[in-house]
Amino acid sequence: MPRLTFLGHSSWLIEGARHSLIVDPFLNGNPKAALKPEDIKVDFVVVTHGHGDHVGDGIDIARRNNATLIANFEVATYCGHHGCETHAMHIGGAHRFPFGRVKLTIAHHGSGISREDGSFAYGGNPCGVVLTVDGKTTYHAGDTGLFLDMKLIGERDPLDVALLPIGDNYTMGVDDAVAAAGFLKAKLTVPMHYGTFPLIDTDPKEFVDKVRRNGQEARVVEVGESLEI
Ligand code: NI
Ligand code: MN
Repeated sequence: MPRLTFLGHSSWLIEGARHSLIVDPFLNGNPKAALKPEDIKVDFVVVTHGHGDHVGDGIDIARRNNATLIANFEVATYCGHHGCETHAMHIGGAHRFPFGRVKLTIAHHGSGISREDGSFAYGGNPCGVVLTVDGKTTYHAGDTGLFLDMKLIGERDPLDVALLPIGDNYTMGVDDAVAAAGFLKAKLTVPMHYGTFPLIDTDPKEFVDKVRRNGQEARVVEVGESLEI
């Protein structure tokens, strides 16, 4: 039974029986972060795309823990050049790691990596990720708009949990994320990527109510709260 702890924004700590990983570890600079990068003890870091609020402290956490950073080829190569162990993958590909299986999916978004001088390093295509840990499968959508192929993601890997962005502006808003939940058919749907900044202030309770009205289970997980799946 893996434990999923919401660290704020799109950052999740996933602890299995023997290994732990962190997804999109945006902690420094995240006004709502539940933990500091130095508090994180993990074996793997998963990054969905190159934006700063997703790569976040990933390189630092991977280096500090001797953890392997898993991302698309372009983001993994960039992070590898900054001194951490990496495992590069790409969309549609799955791989078995010591903790379980990772499959990258499409996401409709950007993935450029901002440099200090205002230029971008090419970050390839953004991804979502299907993670199976201790036999339980979680879909972390990364940042994305709504897409019909979400039906395929749920069909190929029946989902225990779907973690969906609802903050609008950069990603799906509430109503598109409700439609996404309908396509994915996860046993439980949980909102993320809202409320971190005023621009993405949407109402997670509205989201949960609407998903439930469609006959599906959904709940808000507060920052710092854990979920056993
Ligand atoms: Ni993004
Ligand atoms: Mn984002």
